[in-house]
Amino acid sequence: MSTNLTLSVIGCGYLGATHAACMSSLGFNVIGVDTDPEKVEMLSRGELPFYEPGLDTLLAQEIKTGRLNFTTDFSAVAGADVHFVCVGTPQSKDGLAADLTYVKSAVAEIAPFLKEGALVVGKSTVPVGTAQALLELLVKIAPQADLAWNPEFLREGFAVEDTLTPNRLVVGVANDRAEQILKDVYQPIIDLGTPWIRADLPTAELVKVAANSFLATKISFINAMAEVCEAAGGDVTILAKAIGYDPRIGNRFLQAGIGFGGGCLPKDIRAFMARAEELGAKQALEFLREIDAINLRARQRVIDVVRNDLSEDLTQYKIAVLGATFKPDSDDVRDSPALDIAVQLHAAGAHVVIHDPKGIEPARKRFPNLTFGHDVLECIKGSDLILHLTEWKEYRELDPKIIGDLVKSKIIIDGRNALDRELWRNAGWKFHALGRTD
Ligand code: UDX
Repeated sequence: MSTNLTLSVIGCGYLGATHAACMSSLGFNVIGVDTDPEKVEMLSRGELPFYEPGLDTLLAQEIKTGRLNFTTDFSAVAGADVHFVCVGTPQSKDGLAADLTYVKSAVAEIAPFLKEGALVVGKSTVPVGTAQALLELLVKIAPQADLAWNPEFLREGFAVEDTLTPNRLVVGVANDRAEQILKDVYQPIIDLGTPWIRADLPTAELVKVAANSFLATKISFINAMAEVCEAAGGDVTILAKAIGYDPRIGNRFLQAGIGFGGGCLPKDIRAFMARAEELGAKQALEFLREIDAINLRARQRVIDVVRNDLSEDLTQYKIAVLGATFKPDSDDVRDSPALDIAVQLHAAGAHVVIHDPKGIEPARKRFPNLTFGHDVLECIKGSDLILHLTEWKEYRELDPKIIGDLVKSKIIIDGRNALDRELWRNAGWKFHALGRTD
């Protein structure tokens, strides 16, 4: 392995911090650059600015080795051979497209410091065509350097595992030399038998959004089936299990409920539609509009069940919301379906109290007017209805008998189809779940 290669990572958020720590653990010297001095200070102390199982320990360990350093100073990348661009590409404020400000400025910031033969490697999720445009820019401002694209498929909650033992490595390159450099970086992972896929720049960019679109489609498909099950008196959990045994379909990502959220799937499918329209291929991705609509409708369906159970006027009711993050084992509340539902119920006048094992502070930052509680039993006390919206393990371990003595009325809605319905019903609860007939 050529561990004598030096790497830089530009943007030390979720993706960048993970990539930097993991590359250091493979033996490389890594310099991470971020414009946020607070984040850089924390990371330099070996502390993670967000929650991700396993990454905290890895980061602390790698900082101690001295191989991993963080700075706000872009000139620190001057000695590096390979530069991973890991900055965010959020949805733009005025439309569906991705905002590329950070990607463009990251490349512009490092350009003056790139040495002869340096390789810039984009990892951010970008609209197809971005890499080619950046390459053309680089040819003008830093002709000594080259550019490749290497999409990242990591899931929050499994970030370290997905980086060090991914199910494939995809590299978009314009020549053999760029591919060879990336092979040198990833050799220990290739040696594990990880499939290696060489593509051109546009295909590599497309692989990422295609994968996320497929996953989003799978979730919205099962949520559409949930709607039909409700109308027809069926049970979507049994339906999902039954179709999932067909290996062509597969049983993963068929969990019906309040749908997908987070920093990737929603914005990626929207940006993909916007880009397709620019390319004159709007019709090809028209179905993603429906995927988005089904997903957002799931949130509304939960609110309808709440109104049905309580009343159209929610002002007299206390609702305990279990879960604020977009999925368990994360503190990420970006586009969280759980939090969105809580906000809507609060806006409708209900007294909403939200619990989450890790997401309270990030959620409070976004919605300071909402009420949060660190003690789950305290939150539940005196409630007229419980909403289970993020499937943290600790919610599955709640004892419905004990909880039954704390609430005003025993009504629970399982927005994730993750609780044991019989257990709750046997303890005298009125139990509703999306896609399952009572
Ligand atoms: C996703 C992709 O999985 C990952 O490959 C990509 O790199 C980034 O985007 P992540 O955002 O971490 O990862 O979340 P993921 O595990 O995909 O879940 C997305 C959302 O879908 C969550 O809100 C989750 O609750 C929801 N979901 C997932 C369902 O509603 N049902 C399912 O069956 C699976």
